[in-house]
Amino acid sequence: MNQKFSIAGQYVDFDKFNSSKVNFSPYFLNSGTLTMSGRSALILLLEKFNKNKSKKIYLPGYVCETIPKNLISLGFKIHFYDIFLNSKIDKLFEEQSIVIVVHYFGNENKISSKLKNSNLIILEDYTHCMLNNLNAKFNKRNVFMSLRKFTGLPFGGWTNIKENINTLNNKKILKKEKIIYKYLNQKKTYIKNESEFSLKLENKFLKLNKDNEILLDKNILNYPIPKISNNILSCYNWKIIRKKRIENWKYLNKNLKNKFEVFPKKIQDNVCPLYFIIITTKRDQIRNHLISKRIFVANSWKKISDLNYRNLTKSIFLFKNILYIPLDQRLEKFHLNIIIQNLLFYGKN
Ligand SMILES: Cc1ncc(COP(=O)(O)O)c(C=O)c1O
Repeated sequence: MNQKFSIAGQYVDFDKFNSSKVNFSPYFLNSGTLTMSGRSALILLLEKFNKNKSKKIYLPGYVCETIPKNLISLGFKIHFYDIFLNSKIDKLFEEQSIVIVVHYFGNENKISSKLKNSNLIILEDYTHCMLNNLNAKFNKRNVFMSLRKFTGLPFGGWTNIKENINTLNNKKILKKEKIIYKYLNQKKTYIKNESEFSLKLENKFLKLNKDNEILLDKNILNYPIPKISNNILSCYNWKIIRKKRIENWKYLNKNLKNKFEVFPKKIQDNVCPLYFIIITTKRDQIRNHLISKRIFVANSWKKISDLNYRNLTKSIFLFKNILYIPLDQRLEKFHLNIIIQNLLFYGKN
Protein backbone atom coordinates (compact mmCIF):
# COMPACT_ATOMS: atom_id res chain seq x y z
CA MET A 1 0.00 0.00 0.00
CA ASN A 2 1.36 3.40 -0.94
CA GLN A 3 0.51 5.96 1.61
CA LYS A 4 1.38 9.60 1.40
CA PHE A 5 1.37 10.53 5.03
CA SER A 6 2.94 9.61 8.30
CA ILE A 7 1.46 8.25 11.51
CA ALA A 8 3.46 9.74 14.32
CA GLY A 9 2.87 10.04 18.06
CA GLN A 10 1.23 12.62 20.22
CA TYR A 11 1.54 16.37 19.98
CA VAL A 12 0.39 19.00 22.45
CA ASP A 13 -2.19 21.49 21.31
CA PHE A 14 -0.66 24.06 23.59
CA ASP A 15 -2.43 27.04 22.02
CA LYS A 16 -5.43 25.86 23.99
CA PHE A 17 -3.89 25.98 27.41
CA ASN A 18 -4.90 28.53 29.94
CA SER A 19 -1.93 29.41 32.08
CA SER A 20 -3.96 31.11 34.80
CA LYS A 21 -5.40 27.90 36.27
CA VAL A 22 -3.32 25.02 37.45
CA ASN A 23 -5.55 22.26 38.72
CA PHE A 24 -4.37 18.85 37.79
CA SER A 25 -6.12 15.79 36.64
CA PRO A 26 -4.62 13.19 37.16
CA TYR A 27 -5.60 14.52 40.56
CA PHE A 28 -2.69 12.84 42.31
CA LEU A 29 -0.37 15.38 40.64
CA ASN A 30 -1.78 17.98 43.06
CA SER A 31 0.16 16.26 45.82
CA GLY A 32 3.74 14.99 45.90
CA THR A 33 6.41 16.76 43.84
CA LEU A 34 6.60 17.62 40.16
CA THR A 35 10.07 17.28 38.69
CA MET A 36 11.94 17.88 35.49
CA SER A 37 11.93 14.22 34.41
CA GLY A 38 11.26 10.67 35.57
CA ARG A 39 14.94 10.17 36.29
CA SER A 40 15.15 13.32 38.45
CA ALA A 41 12.08 12.14 40.42
CA LEU A 42 13.92 8.87 41.09
CA ILE A 43 17.04 10.70 42.27
CA LEU A 44 14.90 12.80 44.60
CA LEU A 45 13.55 9.58 46.14
CA LEU A 46 17.04 8.17 46.47
CA GLU A 47 18.24 11.29 48.25
CA LYS A 48 15.43 10.90 50.74
CA PHE A 49 15.53 7.18 51.41
CA ASN A 50 19.10 6.12 50.85
CA LYS A 51 20.09 7.21 54.33
CA ASN A 52 23.18 5.06 54.62
CA LYS A 53 24.37 6.27 51.21
CA SER A 54 24.62 2.80 49.79
CA LYS A 55 25.90 2.79 46.24
CA LYS A 56 24.39 -0.58 45.45
CA ILE A 57 21.07 -0.64 43.67
CA TYR A 58 18.94 -3.46 42.21
CA LEU A 59 17.23 -2.87 38.87
CA PRO A 60 15.27 -5.17 36.58
CA GLY A 61 17.35 -6.06 33.51
CA TYR A 62 14.60 -4.80 31.22
CA VAL A 63 14.44 -1.12 32.04
CA CYS A 64 14.61 2.17 30.18
CA GLU A 65 18.32 2.70 29.62
CA THR A 66 18.23 6.30 30.89
CA ILE A 67 17.80 4.95 34.43
CA PRO A 68 20.96 2.80 34.73
CA LYS A 69 22.91 5.31 32.64
CA ASN A 70 22.12 8.20 34.97
CA LEU A 71 22.56 6.14 38.13
CA ILE A 72 26.02 5.07 36.98
CA SER A 73 26.91 8.70 36.29
CA LEU A 74 26.06 9.42 39.94
CA GLY A 75 28.36 6.64 41.14
CA PHE A 76 25.80 3.87 41.79
CA LYS A 77 26.69 0.23 41.19
CA ILE A 78 23.95 -1.53 39.25
CA HIS A 79 22.90 -5.10 40.09
CA PHE A 80 20.34 -6.48 37.70
CA TYR A 81 17.61 -8.98 38.53
CA ASP A 82 15.86 -10.95 35.80
CA ILE A 83 12.12 -10.64 35.40
CA PHE A 84 9.55 -11.11 32.66
CA LEU A 85 6.62 -8.70 32.30
CA ASN A 86 4.31 -10.60 34.59
CA SER A 87 6.25 -10.69 37.75
CA LYS A 88 7.84 -13.98 38.93
CA ILE A 89 11.22 -13.40 40.46
CA ASP A 90 13.85 -15.85 41.77
CA LYS A 91 16.29 -13.35 43.17
CA LEU A 92 16.85 -12.72 46.86
CA PHE A 93 17.92 -9.22 47.72
CA GLU A 94 20.38 -8.27 50.44
CA GLU A 95 18.69 -6.79 53.51
CA GLN A 96 18.12 -3.02 53.38
CA SER A 97 18.98 -2.76 49.71
CA ILE A 98 17.35 -0.37 47.31
CA VAL A 99 15.24 -2.22 44.75
CA ILE A 100 13.61 -0.52 41.76
CA VAL A 101 10.43 -2.18 40.52
CA VAL A 102 8.99 -1.32 37.10
CA HIS A 103 5.26 -1.67 36.47
CA TYR A 104 5.32 -2.63 32.82
CA PHE A 105 2.83 -1.34 30.27
CA GLY A 106 -0.03 -0.52 32.62
CA ASN A 107 0.16 -3.77 34.59
CA GLU A 108 0.91 -3.51 38.27
CA ASN A 109 3.92 -5.68 38.95
CA LYS A 110 3.03 -7.92 41.88
CA ILE A 111 6.56 -8.09 43.18
CA SER A 112 6.25 -4.70 44.87
CA SER A 113 3.46 -5.95 47.15
CA LYS A 114 5.30 -9.25 47.70
CA LEU A 115 8.39 -7.39 48.84
CA LYS A 116 6.45 -4.79 50.82
CA ASN A 117 7.08 -6.15 54.28
CA SER A 118 10.69 -7.03 53.68
CA ASN A 119 13.53 -4.98 54.95
CA LEU A 120 14.10 -3.34 51.57
CA ILE A 121 13.69 0.14 50.12
CA ILE A 122 11.32 -0.35 47.21
CA LEU A 123 11.11 2.44 44.63
CA GLU A 124 8.33 1.94 42.09
CA ASP A 125 8.47 3.17 38.50
CA TYR A 126 4.84 3.96 37.71
CA THR A 127 5.40 5.67 34.34
CA HIS A 128 3.39 3.15 32.32
CA CYS A 129 0.49 3.23 34.80
CA MET A 130 0.19 7.01 34.94
CA LEU A 131 -3.43 7.08 33.77
CA ASN A 132 -4.67 3.88 35.41
CA ASN A 133 -6.30 5.76 38.22
CA LEU A 134 -6.56 9.53 38.08
CA ASN A 135 -7.30 9.54 41.82
CA ALA A 136 -4.52 7.13 42.76
CA LYS A 137 -3.35 7.14 46.36
CA PHE A 138 0.11 5.80 47.07
CA ASN A 139 -0.01 5.37 50.82
CA LYS A 140 3.22 3.97 52.26
CA ARG A 141 4.67 3.53 48.80
CA ASN A 142 7.59 5.32 47.12
CA VAL A 143 6.53 6.02 43.56
CA PHE A 144 8.12 7.95 40.72
CA MET A 145 7.14 8.43 37.10
CA SER A 146 8.03 10.20 33.92
CA LEU A 147 5.16 12.40 32.74
CA ARG A 148 6.63 12.60 29.26
CA LYS A 149 5.36 9.35 27.83
CA PHE A 150 1.61 9.92 27.73
CA THR A 151 1.83 13.66 27.17
CA GLY A 152 4.36 14.38 24.43
CA LEU A 153 5.94 16.94 26.75
CA PRO A 154 9.73 17.26 26.68
CA PHE A 155 10.04 17.82 30.46
CA GLY A 156 8.04 16.39 33.36
CA GLY A 157 8.29 13.86 36.16
CA TRP A 158 6.60 13.24 39.50
CA THR A 159 7.09 11.50 42.81
CA ASN A 160 4.51 10.99 45.55
CA ILE A 161 7.03 12.19 48.12
CA LYS A 162 6.56 15.82 49.10
CA GLU A 163 9.79 17.78 48.78
CA ASN A 164 10.30 21.51 48.73
CA ILE A 165 11.53 22.31 45.29
CA ASN A 166 9.89 25.34 43.77
CA THR A 167 8.76 25.59 40.21
CA LEU A 168 11.73 27.06 38.43
CA ASN A 169 11.35 30.61 37.32
CA ASN A 170 14.87 31.86 36.86
CA LYS A 171 16.52 32.94 33.65
CA LYS A 172 18.03 29.58 32.96
CA ILE A 173 14.61 28.02 33.00
CA LEU A 174 13.01 30.73 30.95
CA LYS A 175 15.50 29.65 28.34
CA LYS A 176 14.23 26.10 28.76
CA GLU A 177 10.66 27.32 28.37
CA LYS A 178 11.65 28.78 25.03
CA ILE A 179 13.13 25.41 24.13
CA ILE A 180 9.86 23.76 25.11
CA TYR A 181 7.77 26.07 22.96
CA LYS A 182 10.09 25.48 20.04
CA TYR A 183 10.00 21.73 20.57
CA LEU A 184 6.22 21.55 20.89
CA ASN A 185 5.68 23.81 17.93
CA GLN A 186 7.99 21.79 15.79
CA LYS A 187 6.42 18.52 16.87
CA LYS A 188 2.92 19.77 16.23
CA THR A 189 3.82 21.16 12.80
CA TYR A 190 5.45 17.94 11.80
CA ILE A 191 2.76 15.60 13.11
CA LYS A 192 -0.27 17.66 12.14
CA ASN A 193 0.82 17.83 8.52
CA GLU A 194 0.50 14.09 8.24
CA SER A 195 -0.75 14.23 4.66
CA GLU A 196 2.15 16.35 3.47
CA PHE A 197 4.89 15.05 5.65
CA SER A 198 8.22 16.64 5.24
CA LEU A 199 11.47 14.97 6.13
CA LYS A 200 12.93 18.38 6.77
CA LEU A 201 10.33 19.12 9.46
CA GLU A 202 10.75 15.69 10.96
CA ASN A 203 14.52 15.98 11.10
CA LYS A 204 14.29 19.39 12.70
CA PHE A 205 12.06 17.91 15.39
CA LEU A 206 14.31 14.88 15.89
CA LYS A 207 17.31 17.15 16.36
CA LEU A 208 15.44 19.13 19.07
CA ASN A 209 14.40 15.86 20.66
CA LYS A 210 18.00 14.70 20.84
CA ASP A 211 19.12 18.03 22.32
CA ASN A 212 16.44 17.71 25.02
CA GLU A 213 17.58 14.23 25.99
CA ILE A 214 21.12 15.57 26.44
CA LEU A 215 19.75 18.42 28.51
CA LEU A 216 17.87 15.97 30.75
CA ASP A 217 20.95 13.83 31.28
CA LYS A 218 22.98 16.91 32.16
CA ASN A 219 20.34 18.32 34.52
CA ILE A 220 19.47 15.24 36.50
CA LEU A 221 20.01 17.11 39.78
CA ASN A 222 18.20 20.21 38.55
CA TYR A 223 14.86 19.01 39.81
CA PRO A 224 11.91 21.34 39.38
CA ILE A 225 9.52 21.08 36.48
CA PRO A 226 9.45 24.08 34.12
CA LYS A 227 6.29 26.11 34.65
CA ILE A 228 5.04 25.67 31.12
CA SER A 229 5.01 21.84 31.45
CA ASN A 230 3.04 22.38 34.60
CA ASN A 231 0.49 24.57 32.84
CA ILE A 232 0.08 22.30 29.89
CA LEU A 233 -0.42 19.27 32.12
CA SER A 234 -3.39 20.95 33.73
CA CYS A 235 -5.16 21.44 30.40
CA TYR A 236 -5.59 17.93 29.09
CA ASN A 237 -8.90 16.18 29.44
CA TRP A 238 -7.49 12.93 30.77
CA LYS A 239 -10.85 11.19 31.09
CA ILE A 240 -11.40 11.50 27.35
CA ILE A 241 -7.80 10.53 26.65
CA ARG A 242 -8.14 7.41 28.81
CA LYS A 243 -11.31 6.39 27.01
CA LYS A 244 -9.80 6.85 23.56
CA ARG A 245 -6.63 4.93 24.36
CA ILE A 246 -8.60 2.02 25.76
CA GLU A 247 -10.85 2.00 22.69
CA ASN A 248 -7.80 2.05 20.41
CA TRP A 249 -6.21 -0.82 22.35
CA LYS A 250 -9.38 -2.89 22.03
CA TYR A 251 -9.66 -2.22 18.31
CA LEU A 252 -6.04 -3.22 17.69
CA ASN A 253 -6.48 -6.28 19.88
CA LYS A 254 -9.63 -7.42 18.07
CA ASN A 255 -7.81 -7.29 14.76
CA LEU A 256 -4.40 -8.56 15.78
CA LYS A 257 -4.83 -11.00 18.70
CA ASN A 258 -5.15 -14.06 16.48
CA LYS A 259 -2.10 -13.11 14.47
CA PHE A 260 0.37 -12.05 17.14
CA GLU A 261 1.37 -12.74 20.69
CA VAL A 262 0.03 -9.75 22.56
CA PHE A 263 0.88 -8.50 26.06
CA PRO A 264 -1.29 -8.43 28.09
CA LYS A 265 -3.93 -10.70 26.55
CA LYS A 266 -6.65 -8.58 28.08
CA ILE A 267 -6.40 -5.19 29.76
CA GLN A 268 -7.79 -4.93 33.26
CA ASP A 269 -10.64 -2.47 33.69
CA ASN A 270 -8.52 0.21 35.29
CA VAL A 271 -5.59 0.05 32.84
CA CYS A 272 -4.96 2.87 30.39
CA PRO A 273 -2.40 1.56 27.91
CA LEU A 274 0.62 3.46 26.65
CA TYR A 275 1.19 1.16 23.66
CA PHE A 276 -0.19 -1.99 22.13
CA ILE A 277 2.51 -4.54 22.90
CA ILE A 278 3.39 -7.31 20.47
CA ILE A 279 5.98 -9.94 21.26
CA THR A 280 7.58 -11.29 18.12
CA THR A 281 10.89 -12.72 16.98
CA LYS A 282 10.46 -10.63 13.81
CA ARG A 283 10.49 -7.41 15.81
CA ASP A 284 13.27 -5.61 13.93
CA GLN A 285 11.97 -6.68 10.55
CA ILE A 286 8.43 -5.48 11.35
CA ARG A 287 9.63 -2.30 12.97
CA ASN A 288 11.74 -1.43 9.92
CA HIS A 289 8.77 -2.15 7.69
CA LEU A 290 6.47 0.12 9.72
CA ILE A 291 9.07 2.87 9.73
CA SER A 292 9.45 2.56 5.95
CA LYS A 293 5.68 3.11 5.75
CA ARG A 294 6.09 6.21 7.89
CA ILE A 295 4.40 4.67 10.92
CA PHE A 296 6.06 5.94 14.05
CA VAL A 297 7.14 3.15 16.40
CA ALA A 298 8.73 4.20 19.68
CA ASN A 299 12.30 3.09 20.28
CA SER A 300 12.53 -0.14 22.23
CA TRP A 301 14.73 -0.06 25.30
CA LYS A 302 18.35 -0.93 24.77
CA LYS A 303 21.01 -2.68 26.79
CA ILE A 304 23.84 -0.53 28.08
CA SER A 305 27.04 -1.65 26.47
CA ASP A 306 29.35 -1.68 29.49
CA LEU A 307 27.00 -3.58 31.82
CA ASN A 308 26.85 -7.33 32.22
CA TYR A 309 23.59 -8.98 31.11
CA ARG A 310 24.84 -12.58 31.42
CA ASN A 311 22.18 -14.92 32.85
CA LEU A 312 19.44 -12.34 32.29
CA THR A 313 17.62 -14.53 29.78
CA LYS A 314 14.15 -13.04 30.32
CA SER A 315 15.40 -9.49 30.03
CA ILE A 316 17.44 -10.26 26.91
CA PHE A 317 14.38 -11.89 25.36
CA LEU A 318 12.40 -8.70 26.01
CA PHE A 319 15.12 -6.44 24.61
CA LYS A 320 14.98 -8.40 21.35
CA ASN A 321 11.31 -9.21 20.88
CA ILE A 322 9.06 -6.40 22.10
CA LEU A 323 7.36 -4.13 19.60
CA TYR A 324 5.58 -0.97 20.77
CA ILE A 325 2.60 -0.15 18.53
CA PRO A 326 1.24 3.40 18.93
CA LEU A 327 -2.33 3.93 20.07
CA ASP A 328 -2.21 7.61 20.94
CA GLN A 329 -5.45 9.41 21.64
CA ARG A 330 -4.95 11.33 18.39
CA LEU A 331 -5.21 8.20 16.27
CA GLU A 332 -8.54 7.34 14.65
CA LYS A 333 -9.73 4.03 13.16
CA PHE A 334 -8.46 5.27 9.83
CA HIS A 335 -4.90 5.37 11.21
CA LEU A 336 -5.29 2.12 13.13
CA ASN A 337 -6.48 0.31 10.01
CA ILE A 338 -3.33 1.31 8.19
CA ILE A 339 -1.23 0.05 11.09
CA ILE A 340 -3.21 -3.21 11.14
CA GLN A 341 -2.92 -3.79 7.41
CA ASN A 342 0.81 -3.29 7.55
CA LEU A 343 1.15 -5.65 10.50
CA LEU A 344 -1.04 -8.40 9.08
CA PHE A 345 1.47 -8.84 6.32
CA TYR A 346 3.67 -10.54 8.98
CA GLY A 347 1.48 -12.50 11.37
CA LYS A 348 2.47 -15.32 13.67
CA ASN A 349 4.25 -17.86 11.49
C1 LIG B 1 9.28 3.24 32.20
C2 LIG B 1 10.19 4.43 32.23
N1 LIG B 1 10.53 4.95 33.42
C3 LIG B 1 11.33 6.02 33.52
C4 LIG B 1 11.87 6.62 32.41
C5 LIG B 1 12.77 7.82 32.56
O1 LIG B 1 11.97 8.96 32.40
P1 LIG B 1 12.56 10.34 31.89
O2 LIG B 1 13.02 10.11 30.48
O3 LIG B 1 11.45 11.33 31.99
O4 LIG B 1 13.69 10.68 32.80
C6 LIG B 1 11.55 6.12 31.15
C7 LIG B 1 12.14 6.74 29.97
O5 LIG B 1 11.83 6.45 28.84
C8 LIG B 1 10.68 5.00 31.05
O6 LIG B 1 10.34 4.48 29.87
